Amino acid sequence: MDCINIGLIGYGVIGQGVVKILKNRRKYFKDKYKKDFFIKTIADRSIAKKPSPGLDNTLLTSDIHAVLNDADIHVVVELIGGMQPAKDIMLLAVRSGKHVVTANKELLATCGQELFREANANNRMIHFESAVGAGIPIIRTITEGVAGNKFNGIYGIINGTCNFILTEMARRKLTFQEALKEAQEKGYAESNPTLDISGMDAAHKLVILVFLTQGKFVSVKDFHVEGINHISHEDIEFASALDLEIRLLAIAKKIGNELDVRVHPTLIPKDHGLATVNGIDNAIFLDMDPMGDVFIEGQGAGQMTAASGVVSDLINLGIRKDVQMPTWIYNPTEEQENIVLRKIDKVETRFYIRFMVIDKPGVLSIITGVLGQHNISIASVNQKQENKGSTVPVVMLTHVANERSLREALEQITHLAVVRSRPVAIRMEKL
Ligand code: HSE
Repeated sequence: MDCINIGLIGYGVIGQGVVKILKNRRKYFKDKYKKDFFIKTIADRSIAKKPSPGLDNTLLTSDIHAVLNDADIHVVVELIGGMQPAKDIMLLAVRSGKHVVTANKELLATCGQELFREANANNRMIHFESAVGAGIPIIRTITEGVAGNKFNGIYGIINGTCNFILTEMARRKLTFQEALKEAQEKGYAESNPTLDISGMDAAHKLVILVFLTQGKFVSVKDFHVEGINHISHEDIEFASALDLEIRLLAIAKKIGNELDVRVHPTLIPKDHGLATVNGIDNAIFLDMDPMGDVFIEGQGAGQMTAASGVVSDLINLGIRKDVQMPTWIYNPTEEQENIVLRKIDKVETRFYIRFMVIDKPGVLSIITGVLGQHNISIASVNQKQENKGSTVPVVMLTHVANERSLREALEQITHLAVVRSRPVAIRMEKL
């Protein structure tokens, strides 16, 4: 029987999940795929501290070169995350004739083009299903399932930690910190959770999706990325009263030869599928031609969902060993090179704005006056009933407004004597 020898580098939460699946299903996979998916070596810097029940100790090492220099290893599974040494591990692996499976979104978003080129030059593959949405098969859906379509737009909830925080703040009235702590304890958050809550993890994943759908490598430095730390209970409740939900959305829309790419908290009408995505679920809504809309949802963070994506990559490598990486992955066309990123200043959306103001006559007219001077038209205004003279929240929904004008208006409003704190602005997306 054909044996697929696997060298695992990084034996953390996901690595342990992968080992669990491969051990428990080894016979099932042998029967089904006529392949033996065999873990030959597990390398981890702190291997001595890692749980390894039922594992043969000779498999375990703290030396990554025991994997990279072993000519009998066919596939390196890189699960240490981050930039280095993960990048060198991948380069060394493909140069020494090994395929790579990785969940490393940060590395692929930053150096993907170089890594794919190197893999191609060495006739090796890099599989990365778990890099976006963990085990949700979004990579394979885009690259195979709907191949032949052109992509008009992607709207994704692609960070489980943020979705968990936002929905658990709403559902169980947890504070931001309590929800984040729980996400960390459950192993959903990155080892550096700032990547999650700053929106950067979603941005890394969006770079991968843009690349797969538009053939263009963009950089997270070139588009707007905003996290969720300024979202409060009040905003979640006000939004809910307006039949809206707040989700961290990763957006990539094609507008002529421009790409409107951004990550930020977004208001979504409650009756849209994305608004019903709760907890650590991720969902990606694809708008395509000729297929139309596709919506894919599932658990997007956590040990076993991520491990499931890694195992599916291994099986795909195992059963299609001689298949090449599609050429378009490392070969953007001239047309794709001509696509430019739309600057955030030019973006036009509706906005939810919460002002904290003194409750006294004339305050609203001062604020609406400034908005009017910046050509921002108000669709609705709500003020929470409070005692006269106290600070009260006023929530406005605008009609479609230009981002730059809105920012300038809010800057001016922030400095008004009747305004007590920087207004919170959340974009609404027409879906
Ligand atoms: N920290 C990531 C998330 C894990 O919360 O979505 C999956 O990539």
